[in-house]
Amino acid sequence: MQDLLTEGDVNFSNARKDWYKLLDIETADLLEEDAGVFLHQALSTPCLEVLESAEGIYITGVSGKKYMDFHGNSVHQVGYGNQYVLDKVKNQMDKLAFSPRRFTNTISIDFAKKLTSLLPQNLNRILFAPGGTSSIGMALKLVRVITGKNKVVSIHDSFHGASLDAIGVGGEYQFKKYMGKLYPENVLIPQPVTYNQSHSETGEIDFADALEQVLIENDDIGAFIAETIRNTDVQIPSKAYWKKVRNICNRYNVLLILDEIPIAFGRTGKMFAFEHYGIEPDILCLGKGLGAGVIPIAAMITKDEYNIASDISLGHYTHEKSPLGAAAGIAMLEYMEQNNLLAETIIKESYLKIELNKLKEKYTVIGDIRGIGLLWGIELVKDHATKEKDAASAEKILYYCLNNGLSFKVSQGNVLQLCPPLTISLTELNDALKILDAAFNEL
Ligand SMILES: Cc1ncc(COP(=O)(O)O)c(C=O)c1O
Repeated sequence: MQDLLTEGDVNFSNARKDWYKLLDIETADLLEEDAGVFLHQALSTPCLEVLESAEGIYITGVSGKKYMDFHGNSVHQVGYGNQYVLDKVKNQMDKLAFSPRRFTNTISIDFAKKLTSLLPQNLNRILFAPGGTSSIGMALKLVRVITGKNKVVSIHDSFHGASLDAIGVGGEYQFKKYMGKLYPENVLIPQPVTYNQSHSETGEIDFADALEQVLIENDDIGAFIAETIRNTDVQIPSKAYWKKVRNICNRYNVLLILDEIPIAFGRTGKMFAFEHYGIEPDILCLGKGLGAGVIPIAAMITKDEYNIASDISLGHYTHEKSPLGAAAGIAMLEYMEQNNLLAETIIKESYLKIELNKLKEKYTVIGDIRGIGLLWGIELVKDHATKEKDAASAEKILYYCLNNGLSFKVSQGNVLQLCPPLTISLTELNDALKILDAAFNEL
């Protein structure tokens, strides 16, 4: 159990067992059918609910129970059932739904041009893939081609996808347990921890020094891979940290791969999170919200000078240039622009910051509130000085909120992660805050 506490909604907890007692018969029967046919794994099966529909910020179960979805697996920047996106995807479905790999298609070319037009000028070479993990896999292969080196530096407790290559650079134990020797062997360094000082100008420099130390000791490192801002427990390093990391990578000829799979497309208030830092990656991985929560699609983007792998297959995925993925992606980007979602997110960020800090004043169990854009973390501790995790309270709050119609992720066992659609209204945000407040009050 202890090693499963990197996430809060553990399958075997007592709170989970109690949850099942509250379900109606139809839902309970369907969950049993689900558990009878799917292979069980941590963090997903058995499930909590059976969904029937989703719209805006809401997901609805077969019983009619509605939840505000502040989890959404980070795909729902433009909300569920976004009509603008659905119309474009349906239209594309009538014309060309699939493109066999030896051919290309206009919508994928348009999508690639549109996406790269939003990035710094020299990030102009792209490959699409059916999921984020695959984009990480392509990035790792490209690093080997460019540098001739196999090893990668990454961050403790990081997640870059669930496949064997991706867990080789990820740090989460739950994915590595029983997996034996992983390839490529990577070197883990600590995550810059931003407790009570998130997004400062100057903090966490010693974490960058740790990277330099690894590069001094190892001359076989091809890349450093990290999330610009860590999505799970919402860690927001300083500008100085990222500037220094970029500088170190340049000096040691190590490529910088930024994994922005869950946090691009406005989640942090900018289109891409690295824009907060005045740095640019050598390789950027995108996914999740790229397909607007409608079609799975991801991308790996790099520089023209690294367009040197034409004699090998980096991706070669059946659903590579997916016309439907492209239609969803273009629609998502257009919707963001037409509805000023970046500016809107910054307004909501200010509101959420004030309101969450009021909660912190009110409840001593809250050790830290940190966030940016519409990605916020509430860290629960037993003791402010030692920062000892209060995972039991996190569980109680999660299930109280689920019962009362609010779903969110729990990370590291004690961080409530709030990640609503960027389309959320201030009224809806306020409704969610009321549920949270009542949950803390109930503790
Ligand atoms: C930071 C990060 N990288 C990679 C992935 C993998 O993406 P996918 O599940 O689309 O393969 C995830 C998924 O949660 C993620 O959060």
